[in-house]
Amino acid sequence: MTGESCEEVFQDSFVTYDELFDLCELDNRRRLGSGVSGTAYKVIFKDKYACLKLGKCLEDQKSFDDEASILTELKGAGGAPLLYCVCNNFPAIVISFRGGITLYKYCKNNELDLETILSLFIKVARKLEEIHLRGFTHNDLKSDNILVQETDGCLELNIIDFGLSTEVGGYVDWYHTPEEHEQYPHYAPEVFFTGPCTPKGDVYSLGYMMFNLLGSYFRKKKIPGPLCLIRLIDFMMDAERTKRPSILQVIEILEKIIDHLGTNATPQDAAASADAASEADAASEADATSRTCAVPRDDVPPVTDVPQRGDAAGSSIINKIKRVALRHALYTALSCVFGCIQQPQY
Ligand SMILES: Nc1ncnc2c1ncn2[C@@H]1O[C@H](COP(=O)(O)OP(=O)(O)OP(=O)(O)O)[C@@H](O)[C@H]1O
Ligand SMILES: [Mg+2]
Repeated sequence: MTGESCEEVFQDSFVTYDELFDLCELDNRRRLGSGVSGTAYKVIFKDKYACLKLGKCLEDQKSFDDEASILTELKGAGGAPLLYCVCNNFPAIVISFRGGITLYKYCKNNELDLETILSLFIKVARKLEEIHLRGFTHNDLKSDNILVQETDGCLELNIIDFGLSTEVGGYVDWYHTPEEHEQYPHYAPEVFFTGPCTPKGDVYSLGYMMFNLLGSYFRKKKIPGPLCLIRLIDFMMDAERTKRPSILQVIEILEKIIDHLGTNATPQDAAASADAASEADAASEADATSRTCAVPRDDVPPVTDVPQRGDAAGSSIINKIKRVALRHALYTALSCVFGCIQQPQY
């Protein structure tokens, strides 16, 4: 699909439901995945592989229309699929096939080292930056909505699923209670409740994704996560969006941490090395506005704004995450001292 421009592929392709199935040959009915808003199939569309996203019912129409118009505007930014065709009497779109597997599966199926995992986060952050520069926010970033493809030994990452994406400053059209946020913790509190959606909402979701993927890595290695990474995630997931670092700051910090990871180091050395990097940064970077992971948490000024409903829920999830991180650190420390102990359920 590389080299195809959006204009080239989306030539006023509005079709009826019947026409859609004439145009799309189902590739052995291969279901790529399904979610709340429908099912994705791998199809052959005009002699090339494509992805058919099919809604469940007519109520899904708005989210499909929104996704179609945002994909047109994005023009492939962040690896977003190109729009091939829109169904005009049922929620369905045909988009370019991005191949590969989800980042979640990629990390689960491969024995990745810390440097590779952190490099993947940087790649995701760069893709997000592309989307933000186009004036949009993704709002639903998670490892299931990122596809990883290996081409000529290089890993390519594509962000997919723009069903909840909005313009920067926009609002997702839904209503939720704080209890519901616990079921969908990857959404930034302001995205889930009050709005507006800004790039900082995607920073929050990236932080949550990093928390999960790094949590699995350190649990597997049975070592505590480096404090600088825990701090970085903590900043990224601040309930107050203005206090989160920007995507560019996240990239910068991750690059610094990678720089300090010795290539031959054991995971323990790597963790210690990453913390050493954090301490070095703390000494050299005293800029209070660009709050890096090196700034101790206690230095953060108290929130003076009247707390919003979203903030309360955000704080509760941050506290929960902190508790989990603390429990995990304690568990790994104890298991180092006493040998193998039963792994706690998070
Ligand atoms: N363009 C694409 N190329 C290849 N695979 C895709 C593509 N789009 C979606 N998929 C696959 O289909 C799955 C579901 O697609 P998508 O995330 O867009 O739908 P969804 O219904 O909004 O899912 P959810 O609600 O779980 O986020 C993805 O996780 C991915 O595996
Ligand atoms: Mg999805």
